[in-house]
Amino acid sequence: MQDKSIVDRIEELKSKIEESVKDLKSSKSLYELKSKFLGRTGEISDLMKCMRDIPKEKRPEAGKIINALRDWAEERFGIIESVIKLSELKEQYKNEAIDVTLPGNTNPTGAYHPNTLIRRELISVFAGMGFTVYEGPEIENDYYNFTALNTPKDHPARDMQDTFYVTNDLLLRTQTSAGQIRVMEKQAPPIKILSPGKVFRSDDDATHSPMFSQMEGLVVDKGITLCDLKGMLDEFAAKIFGSGVKTRLRPSYFPFTEPSVEVDVSCFECGGKGCKLCKGTGWIEVLGAGMVNRHVLEGCGVDPDVYSGFAFGMGIERIAMLKYGINNMKLLFEGDVKFLRQFKMA
Ligand code: DAH
Repeated sequence: MQDKSIVDRIEELKSKIEESVKDLKSSKSLYELKSKFLGRTGEISDLMKCMRDIPKEKRPEAGKIINALRDWAEERFGIIESVIKLSELKEQYKNEAIDVTLPGNTNPTGAYHPNTLIRRELISVFAGMGFTVYEGPEIENDYYNFTALNTPKDHPARDMQDTFYVTNDLLLRTQTSAGQIRVMEKQAPPIKILSPGKVFRSDDDATHSPMFSQMEGLVVDKGITLCDLKGMLDEFAAKIFGSGVKTRLRPSYFPFTEPSVEVDVSCFECGGKGCKLCKGTGWIEVLGAGMVNRHVLEGCGVDPDVYSGFAFGMGIERIAMLKYGINNMKLLFEGDVKFLRQFKMA
């Protein structure tokens, strides 16, 4: 026979549980309720403690019904828990919902200037051949910009460059070639440097700007010949303008090189057949170069009977214009973001 008072208490507990789970809203209050009934000091455990007062023969049966109550309560709480969790999850999803169709907040980003892109590309190509970078001053002595470059005061070559003078002796450098002298004065051969930077000339029209950028190169060592220059230029042309682009040297004149050459690359637009870009010639002039004049070497304390070298100089804007098909040099100086943004992906 079941103990009457235990059965009653069980029924009571059951309805108490049913009653209290009715308004359960959160898993936190569910856990509190669960431990109130099922915890070690909870009401169902209390019931177990009453077993002592039950006659021994009735205890197994009483134990069974209390355990059945525990199982029932656990199952009941389990069901409620899954319902509450689901609604809490739904609530969380609702609160965290984002509208993926809303336009995002974009931070406007800049783009590298074509000059910067070309300068970096050139440096990387020449660095791959072992060149290091030397940046000389933009305000130069007449000596470094002209005299040491075999262009003394009365030299007619000075007429080719309209110089901005600061004082009689100080000027805004007209060419990065000035860097050659500064490097040779400081460093004994072997020398292999690049000198990029701004240069200034009193010149302003559709194809000239009073400020533009050049990249100078200088190699001095024992046994350097024009063939070394040609080989290096071929590598440069292929890397910058595309494989298959060739170079050719035409005789020219610069006071600081002897012999001097003008360097053309085969037209990368038409492959040499002749087009608008190469003005029908199949070739495009890209830089000036030559073997360093022995007077220049001597002036820097380098023995021209032991050492020889080649030098080259190019306009960065010119390379950028050719490479990106820019037809007006002014675009490179106006800072129009609509123009500049196009180079973002370059
Ligand atoms: N400095 C020259 C110019 O501004 C360019 C140049 C020509 C540089 C020949 C060189 C060179 O190093 O060898 O027009």
